[in-house]
Amino acid sequence: MTHPPGDITDPRLADEGRRRIDWALSEMPVVRALTAEVAETRPLQGLRISACLHITTETANLARALKAAGADLVLCASNPLSTQDDVAAALVVHEGIPVYARRGEDTETYYRHLAAAVAHRPVITLDDGADLVSEIHKHHRELLPEMLGGTEETTTGVIRLRAMAREGALGYPIIAVNDAQTKHLFDNRYGTGQSALDGIIRATNILLAGKTFCVVGYGWCGRGIALRAKGHGAHVIVCEVEPLRALEAAMDGYRVMPLREAARQADFVVTATGDKHVVDRPHLEAAKDGCVLANAGHFNVEINLPALEALAVAKHRPRPSVDEYTLADGRRLRLLAEGRLVNLAAAEGHPSAVMDMSFANQLLSVIHLARRAQRLANGVHDVPRDIDREVARRKLAAMDLHIDTLTEEQARYLASWQEGT
Ligand code: ADE
Repeated sequence: MTHPPGDITDPRLADEGRRRIDWALSEMPVVRALTAEVAETRPLQGLRISACLHITTETANLARALKAAGADLVLCASNPLSTQDDVAAALVVHEGIPVYARRGEDTETYYRHLAAAVAHRPVITLDDGADLVSEIHKHHRELLPEMLGGTEETTTGVIRLRAMAREGALGYPIIAVNDAQTKHLFDNRYGTGQSALDGIIRATNILLAGKTFCVVGYGWCGRGIALRAKGHGAHVIVCEVEPLRALEAAMDGYRVMPLREAARQADFVVTATGDKHVVDRPHLEAAKDGCVLANAGHFNVEINLPALEALAVAKHRPRPSVDEYTLADGRRLRLLAEGRLVNLAAAEGHPSAVMDMSFANQLLSVIHLARRAQRLANGVHDVPRDIDREVARRKLAAMDLHIDTLTEEQARYLASWQEGT
């Protein structure tokens, strides 16, 4: 049998991958229904699309949908540790989609895989972290004029793209899927909340009840992690730099303090900030013996890994996804998943039911870019409000949830200003 080009770990994993992709699909009713619809209308017929995403069972179902819509699709990994090798194999062997992704790939391979996605000469890109957009702008600017647009999945990617746009450096329009309400209010909060805890528990099997659990960053991801850690019976501390978010954390019932103070008490420190060296040398120096360090942000920069390496006198791996560093005074610090996204590297990422909404936004946004008579202006754009509402409406219907509608009198009242006391 000949397979499309790609670079994957082992094609013999394809059947297992297909079983797990189908399992995920049973939790993705919105993507499933959209796939059937676009298979009829083929809105992406013949369009070259490259997607740099975490290669998971959920992404596989988005890939199936894009292909059903007619796209000529190539996939590459958006993180060296998040690829599910059986899924990559299933996409190549059973779906005929070229995939460039191997779990545990080194940095050189990661960039070779990105280059393969660029070599596809996409007219639409899907990104999770903006590495594909960045690669095209740095090394393949000849693609920019033909580009219809792109989408971005995650907060960190949107921040990078807005920085590019501010400097006038963004050469094509990008839809910030992350910023859709049906994305970040659910995926970032409930998805990260469950999957980050899942990763920490799978990696360590340490009881959370009664432990002190420090969440650094109280954006939507941090909120989800704090909420679920509290649900496990942990004493949750939140560290923030934004006064408003800190206040919200305090009124949500968490203790709020600087990380230097929290580090002395915490059994777990989990970062979700999107920023660099948030857990820095002084925090590592203050940390308790046995402290578990994990990162839920996109890049592996949130925990200062060079500082941790420099402080350590010994290092060993007691369990998969756990590196235990021994410091000169005998304290042990346990780093999960090499400081990479703990939810994808030590578990399977967000559950399918929440990715259903994120990827429905992705699919509808890609179709929106493809259908436009005129390309959107270069810059970062919101997901059209109609798409956001459509995803919410479809998800509610799939969950068999029904809601009330305003009476005419109520709608009139809301639109008027004359009636008061
Ligand atoms: N990001 C977080 N969880 C994910 C998942 N399950 N699939 C793809 N991207 C993700």
